Amino acid sequence: MYTSVRLFIFSSLIVCTVKAVDHNNFKTCDQSSFCRRLRATKPSDTKYELNLSNLQISDSSIESELINKEADVSLKFAITALVDSTFRIFIDEIKPLHPRYQVEGALNGEPQVARLELLDRTNNEISIKSGDNKVVIKAQPFKIEFYSGTKLVTIFNGRGLFNFEHLRAKPSTEESADADLGDQAPKESEDPGAWSENFKSHHDSKPRGPEAIGIDISFPDAHRAYGLPEHGDHFSLRTTTSGSLDPYRLYNLDVFEYELDTTMAIYGSIPVLYAHSPQHTVGVFWHNAAEMWVDITNSKDGNVVSSIVSLVSGHKQDVHIDTYFMSESGVVDLFVFLGPTMQNAAQQYAKITGAAPIPQYFALGYHQSRWNYNDEDDVQMVVEKFDEHNFPLDVMWLDIEYTDGKKYFTWDPIKFKHPEAMQLNLTATGRKLVVIIDPHIKRESGYFLHEDALANNYYVKNKDGNVYEGWCWPGSSSYLDFFDPKVREYYSGLYALDKFTGTTKDAYLWNDMNEPSVFNGPEVTMPKDCVHYGDWEHRHVHNIYALYHTMATFDGLLKRSGNQLRPFILTRGHFAGSQRYSAMWTGDNAADWSHLTYSIPMCLSEAIAGMSFCGADIGGFFKNPDEELLQRWFQTGVWLPFFRMHSHIDTKRREPYLYSTDIQNRIRNALRQRYAHLPVWYTLFHEHEVTGEPVIRPLAYHYPSDVNVFDIDNQLLVGSSILARPITESGVSSVNVYFPGGAQERWYDIEDFKPYPGSGSISIPITLDKVPVYYKGASIILRKDRLRRASTLTHDDPFTLYVALDHNNSAQGRLYIDDNESYEYRKKKYLYIQFNYKEGILTNNLVDPDASYTTSAWIERVVILGPPAGVKRAKLESKKLGVQKLQVSYDGEGRSLTIRKPAVLISDIFTITLEQ
Ligand code: NOJ
Repeated sequence: MYTSVRLFIFSSLIVCTVKAVDHNNFKTCDQSSFCRRLRATKPSDTKYELNLSNLQISDSSIESELINKEADVSLKFAITALVDSTFRIFIDEIKPLHPRYQVEGALNGEPQVARLELLDRTNNEISIKSGDNKVVIKAQPFKIEFYSGTKLVTIFNGRGLFNFEHLRAKPSTEESADADLGDQAPKESEDPGAWSENFKSHHDSKPRGPEAIGIDISFPDAHRAYGLPEHGDHFSLRTTTSGSLDPYRLYNLDVFEYELDTTMAIYGSIPVLYAHSPQHTVGVFWHNAAEMWVDITNSKDGNVVSSIVSLVSGHKQDVHIDTYFMSESGVVDLFVFLGPTMQNAAQQYAKITGAAPIPQYFALGYHQSRWNYNDEDDVQMVVEKFDEHNFPLDVMWLDIEYTDGKKYFTWDPIKFKHPEAMQLNLTATGRKLVVIIDPHIKRESGYFLHEDALANNYYVKNKDGNVYEGWCWPGSSSYLDFFDPKVREYYSGLYALDKFTGTTKDAYLWNDMNEPSVFNGPEVTMPKDCVHYGDWEHRHVHNIYALYHTMATFDGLLKRSGNQLRPFILTRGHFAGSQRYSAMWTGDNAADWSHLTYSIPMCLSEAIAGMSFCGADIGGFFKNPDEELLQRWFQTGVWLPFFRMHSHIDTKRREPYLYSTDIQNRIRNALRQRYAHLPVWYTLFHEHEVTGEPVIRPLAYHYPSDVNVFDIDNQLLVGSSILARPITESGVSSVNVYFPGGAQERWYDIEDFKPYPGSGSISIPITLDKVPVYYKGASIILRKDRLRRASTLTHDDPFTLYVALDHNNSAQGRLYIDDNESYEYRKKKYLYIQFNYKEGILTNNLVDPDASYTTSAWIERVVILGPPAGVKRAKLESKKLGVQKLQVSYDGEGRSLTIRKPAVLISDIFTITLEQ
């Protein structure tokens, strides 16, 4: 064991020689008994039948008994109508041998039910309606059809693959060998891994035996499936049932040097999938925390047997998607979001699992990290160099080496002797600190946390009831059982400033290794037969361990500030609902162009799965980026929500000031773009909290009927108004940019304001300085263009309005402002301002007139893109300033018109009129 652990740590240090993930460490579907069992299910007449004779119908739900005819086992079946075109299907055993796990903590409270109307009922079928949607439930063969209006969009069990392994007593060896059992013998018992399973040297004792569930969901007419993060893969999900691909696996794992273009599981698991067609998007979310695999069959990928053909329409359909969700345990708790648009479906999902609360403003700035900054002087030196070279910086990060021997909540007594003074130096220049706290606890006698955990029974147990011991950074470690409310309460208390001494209110948190990562565990994680609070096995709750970890940290940070300051937490492991507590990043990527490329689709997949606050290690975690790659990484990171440089302990230093003047200039320009657009990011995060709309979006989100955008994932939209096509290829002198929206749409280059019509692909010349980014005509973008050391210093800085006109000479935009850090906004202490431009007149109004916030920020410039010709001056009218004449000037090519110094406060209501 120790050898393999040492090898692991040793190999993680040789950053340049190890090429790829060790596949032997991780299971394929074929090596996983339940995946193998379920995947072998063939389309058939289902063995399930709904008993319509004892149907219970209430205002919002229908309940009945679902019978497994082969095994004569009854399941409870319920379908509930929820608000916003959402349905919930619930299936569990009526009398299980052991209770089956139902997830808690992922949903944002109890979903709101909606009225359901009975439309029709026959011996074999019942039709219900809620809002514009209809659901037809067939008793035999058991099947549920979901209609949006009159259009069939989703079918549950259309292929008859639904399979619910009821819990049962383990047959004695003689019984299982008894041929007389014939058809009565549960099929899954025949799989050699059904009752216990080995993987490498690890044994899974499976005390409850087989308990897997397979759910078959089809999407007639769907062209693409999206979602199911986290995978190092493209945005559009691929067919996994023909060819050699495994199903998409969802099992939070610490995969050393994870690969790209693969369906292998990595750190996070969000079981939400969207099926998209030019007319329609629907989503499904399986609220289940166990290991899951999802097979996808997209008819476009050819040679795929068209299973919906006969079942649904009787004639061949060219386009459709079949999916098969396989989970190791739990119950069926499936949400179906009927859209009808992707925008609706993403919001419906966000309604169920919650949106991220608006972060503090600083969290959207630039973060500087490496494993590790050596000591306090090093931290100070880096910050000074940033200042000296005029690079903005908001946050310095400390990785595990700041601790005293990897004992979390302590400081290395030599290297970080004066942590408070170090933080005060940071805050003096408007900066914050983030420190890492992992969930594994060093088993060292005398270490207060270990002693407390032992004394109070706070650790996860192994299958024999003893404290589980695994190996992680500190060596021998045990793992806090965050499922126990007492443990969460205790843990959150550890963040108190008088407990975690050396931290100040400006220190924030990084929760890493929380899949949980166990170097010597099966698949580098905790054995599935470990036992948690409530007697649940680790297999039942694995994918929400990180969620509970961040939940406790969030609570700790809230309490620490007397509920005043918004916590900032970065997590690696995540699940549905994690967005309510933390940002995430894509883990240990590498300094390769391919990892830069995939950072965009990976974050887009997270964004539609609720985790908007996503980023990737700038420069790549493993290996050293060459200069071109590093610059491009900065230029790309600007357009992803979380913007942090980070790298492995063995990489060369790569802080921006270490490069030549040219390179520094490019990096500074990238940072300048980021900081200029912080008001845009902040406004989008506010809107995300209110509406659930993702902050970054795939093109298909806003251009759903344009089939050309369905596979585009090297471009993204920031909100709806900014289109970015980061350069993720080496040595290019031109790239094709796809401009969506049709010939009447206009897109303006954000640097030279050149307009492009939205009529498809155009080749754009590229230099090292050039990144194709565009403002959509019809939008007003509010920027802060003055470069400062940190975002916290820009609070009162003036705004510039970029008014990008559409073909009707009009534009609109919104700006959200508050105090950037507290919860006062929940008491209406904010401004949410709408700006409108129409035919030469710019006005503003408060979107929420009941809210108010006092600011001295003013408008220093208005830049109109695609302006009318012949404007000589402008007139400002405002209550406070009265009537004023303003100077205007066109740029050399007449692409923009600048109105100088309106000098009106951003909070004032005003009119600016262009005069000929
Ligand atoms: C793994 C994380 O992914 C990485 O970012 C970090 O530097 C190391 N753990 C050490 O804490």
